[in-house]
Amino acid sequence: MRFPLLFATRGCRAVYRLHQKQFLSPVPPLWKHRSSAAVSTQLCKDDRSYYITTPIFYVNASPHLGHLYSAVLADCLHRYKLLQGFNSKFATGTDEHGLKIQQAAEAAGKDPLTFCTGVSKQFRHLFSSCNISYTDYIRTTEQRHREAVEHFWSVLWNKGLIYKGSYEGWYSTQDESFLMPSQVGDALDSLGKEIKVSLESGHKVEWMKEENYMFRLSAFQSQLLDWLKGNPQAVQPERFHQAVLKWLHEDLPDLSVSRQRSRLQWGIPVPGDDEQTIYVWLDALVNYLTVAGYPDKHNQWWHVARHVIGKDILKFHAIYWPAFLLGAGLPLPKVIHVHSHWTVGGKKMSKSLGNVVDPLERSQMFTADGMRYFLLRQGVPDSDCDYTDDKVAKLLNAELADSLGGLLNRCTAPALNPAQVYPSFCPQSFPRAHGGRAVREDYHMLDAVKKLPAVVEKHYETMHIYKALEAVSACVRLTNGFVQRHTPWKLDRKNSEDERWIDTIIHISLECLRIYGTLLQPIVPETSNKLLSRLGVQPHERSWAALNFLARYQGMDCPFEGRALGSDSGVLFSRLEPHNADKQKPKKTKKSAN
Ligand code: MSP
Repeated sequence: MRFPLLFATRGCRAVYRLHQKQFLSPVPPLWKHRSSAAVSTQLCKDDRSYYITTPIFYVNASPHLGHLYSAVLADCLHRYKLLQGFNSKFATGTDEHGLKIQQAAEAAGKDPLTFCTGVSKQFRHLFSSCNISYTDYIRTTEQRHREAVEHFWSVLWNKGLIYKGSYEGWYSTQDESFLMPSQVGDALDSLGKEIKVSLESGHKVEWMKEENYMFRLSAFQSQLLDWLKGNPQAVQPERFHQAVLKWLHEDLPDLSVSRQRSRLQWGIPVPGDDEQTIYVWLDALVNYLTVAGYPDKHNQWWHVARHVIGKDILKFHAIYWPAFLLGAGLPLPKVIHVHSHWTVGGKKMSKSLGNVVDPLERSQMFTADGMRYFLLRQGVPDSDCDYTDDKVAKLLNAELADSLGGLLNRCTAPALNPAQVYPSFCPQSFPRAHGGRAVREDYHMLDAVKKLPAVVEKHYETMHIYKALEAVSACVRLTNGFVQRHTPWKLDRKNSEDERWIDTIIHISLECLRIYGTLLQPIVPETSNKLLSRLGVQPHERSWAALNFLARYQGMDCPFEGRALGSDSGVLFSRLEPHNADKQKPKKTKKSAN
């Protein structure tokens, strides 16, 4: 049997690169010759759609920090693409079927749907509290999803890819996963009883033997290998790509895709066989298609689908899902962005260890932007990260309150900026060739800020958000150094030459802040909005296309020059007390005069 490969690259690619030519001091060629915005916006019409998903979350328990992390990463990519002018769809939601949920509902003494509705609302509440700007929230108990799953099943069935068989082997209800003997080990439970566990997740496994439907996964082994080899960017970062390749070189047995209804009632019945329930992972994965409009209207979105997932669910997304899609004759996801996990005290979060971090509580303690910034700045996709409240407070104080907030505060303080405007840039004070008051480090600073959008873009594209934030943070430090070096508060506004230089320093600093505020919108939307509003930057001036830094230095007009600052002069981000961070709410700090 042959299956068509449907992951050929598209002919028309987006051209949306920031120019990355050198910005050399003191006379950068780029600035000499360019006469329009620094961003090229020639997008191919076809490529303006973008579709990003989070995993759908199990509703057996309340949301924890790891769940928020998956959602914040996807939200960041969605917001970034919107800034670039893409038509972006962003799906999240809840995974409500399966044995694990059935058992959790039983334990709570509730009927499954009422139970699921309650926990699903908690996820929704968390997401709205943290500004997760999804465009669709899917629940697998919805009718539209049931229709999509039934259709998808029928397509696989009609192609002869599902057959009636029997499965005998290990099953982990916590992971809703079938395991090979080599993936199982011995352990003791809390009462000291010997049990079998999944070596990967540590969750208990049970032996099961039942009649059910099998999917011909083995038939797809070589196509999956071809796909991964032909698309080195399909699974990112690289180490996860390699992990999938390794699995594919091992045995790939057929996969059980249903459970006996007598064991699992809480799920979608197999079409045409009421004695069997569809395997929860097949059910859940189809959510991505449901949101795209499957089975009738999914084309626009489906060929640009990207999934953000945690490393624990890689096998389901990079092996089972592509195999199902190949079987159904559908394109494969463009990219699977994988992230690592948050640990607490070096250990996996778990109820029994009592180390589960409640993301809602933390977002109230540190603000939504604070948690978003911390997770994205500190979280590294390649490796696990350990969470402590102290780290959050220290990072936010250093980078958002002191460095960014302090810079804004200095440049907008009435003592230094009495007219409360975006002041004029004086080309004689800061000439493209040496001769004014600028020094070598100042030219380096301009160079770094000029290049920053391209650097950030590169890292946002590969979901290395922490690298983008590292770069922004380094530039904020450079701008603070620039102001500190020239101590404008020591100059005399009554002297006209001094005045022009003070205004030039402030103009440049505000231009830097405008770039930082624009680039940070996907990360800290509320703080960026506050910052840009204070600078007087209008909503239509906040897109990626508006990232033209320091137009006046290039001999062009600057639309902001002379404009009144926004009236909200409040603290950009309030400092937190590091040692008591877990006890207190953000504290307002006094503004300094410079
Ligand atoms: N329901 C499945 C996904 C189905 S998608 C078709 C599932 N749900 S989950 O609630 O267990 O996990 C959802 C996401 O949270 C996954 O991306 C998972 O990796 C992530 N996290 C769970 N614990 C985590 C940490 N401790 N740290 C970071 N993310 C982690 O799997």
